[in-house]
Amino acid sequence: MRIAVLSETDGAETRVSATPETVKKYKSLGADVIVQAGAGAKAGIPDAEFEAAGASIVKTAKEALKDADIILKVRRPAEGELKGSKPGALVIAIMDPYGQEAALKALADAQVSAFAMELMPRITRAQVMDVLSSQANLAGYRAVIDATAEYGRALPMMMTAAGTVPAARIFVMGAGVAGLQAIATARRLGAVVTATDVRPAAKEQVESLGAKFIAVEDEEFKQAETAGGYAKEMSDAYKAKQAELVASHIAKQDIVITTALIPGRPAPKLVSRAMVESMKPGSVIIDLAVERGGNCELAQPGQVVEHNGVKIVGHLNVPGRLAATASSLYAKNLYAFVETLVDKETKALAVKWDDELVKATCLTRDGAIVHTAFQPTA
Ligand code: NAI
Repeated sequence: MRIAVLSETDGAETRVSATPETVKKYKSLGADVIVQAGAGAKAGIPDAEFEAAGASIVKTAKEALKDADIILKVRRPAEGELKGSKPGALVIAIMDPYGQEAALKALADAQVSAFAMELMPRITRAQVMDVLSSQANLAGYRAVIDATAEYGRALPMMMTAAGTVPAARIFVMGAGVAGLQAIATARRLGAVVTATDVRPAAKEQVESLGAKFIAVEDEEFKQAETAGGYAKEMSDAYKAKQAELVASHIAKQDIVITTALIPGRPAPKLVSRAMVESMKPGSVIIDLAVERGGNCELAQPGQVVEHNGVKIVGHLNVPGRLAATASSLYAKNLYAFVETLVDKETKALAVKWDDELVKATCLTRDGAIVHTAFQPTA
């Protein structure tokens, strides 16, 4: 069995899909691991470290792909990137499949079995493979660090001989994995933290981290969580009530961190231009949802914009701003999944196509798009 680790072709991607630690694990599963030269460079992993862990280094993607049974990546391979791969090879990555019909067709046409790690069900057995959680947790942490760097004041209250510095007020919108880590990080840095969400389950979690929960807690709120634990799109009436509550609160905040997402839909717009204009100059907004359309009306993907003295930060690929940690957790998520696809006795690939994890993540197989959620509409 041969496993290829490719360099990322998107220049903005700093992460890598394997680490020396996971290479060793793949070796003990009985695999040969081929790493494309430089794959780990932006994550601080030199080729020599992969080599020392037992991987072979090759110059090009084409050489790495040749005869590979499994191809590991962070992002979905671009069209043509899989040229020369073996028919039926498994390609495992964060595939970003929503609204990407042409890209999915290209994967099917490449005759690979493509797996989208972000579709992994959130069941106990698959927790160790949950890339959304491993990466969102780091994004939540990094959002606070980025906010701190942009903010011209200190976060904790300080009583000094020269006077008292007040604690910064931080408001976290969306208390899922990223939001909860943002709350915890902001609390560690001494900020006064409030948070909001549309899911009632979030209230206790927010409070257990020492933050105050602020939300419109009406009947719709009580029903807002799907069986999968995600938020639903809220009604216009709820959105209006939420906006009213948020508007008066935001005006008093120093830092706002937005993380609100609804699976498969554009991010809900929560912070309007008027709300930004109500904030004091020097305040900072970090929009972690910017890649999905943004929670803040003024956020621009990949930019830090200033509006009336308020900085609105729209960094892309926030987990990639912690490339080493993000890669190490992502690589472990991948290994945990790959381990379930291999027969430990024969040390060969043995995909159980009817396994719940395989069915949930497999997008293409034998030249067709097989995932029920992404069937082409004729
Ligand atoms: P997500 O990334 O899809 O969304 C982030 C947050 O935004 C969510 O908490 C969501 O409720 C919130 N949100 C959506 N619309 C909003 C609005 N209009 N206003 C305010 N907030 C809004 O969510 P994430 O981080 O993936 O977490 C979803 C759930 O899954 C959570 O309950 C989390 O605890 C749970 N989870 C379960 C795991 C498991 O293995 N059982 C693993 C990881 C998370």
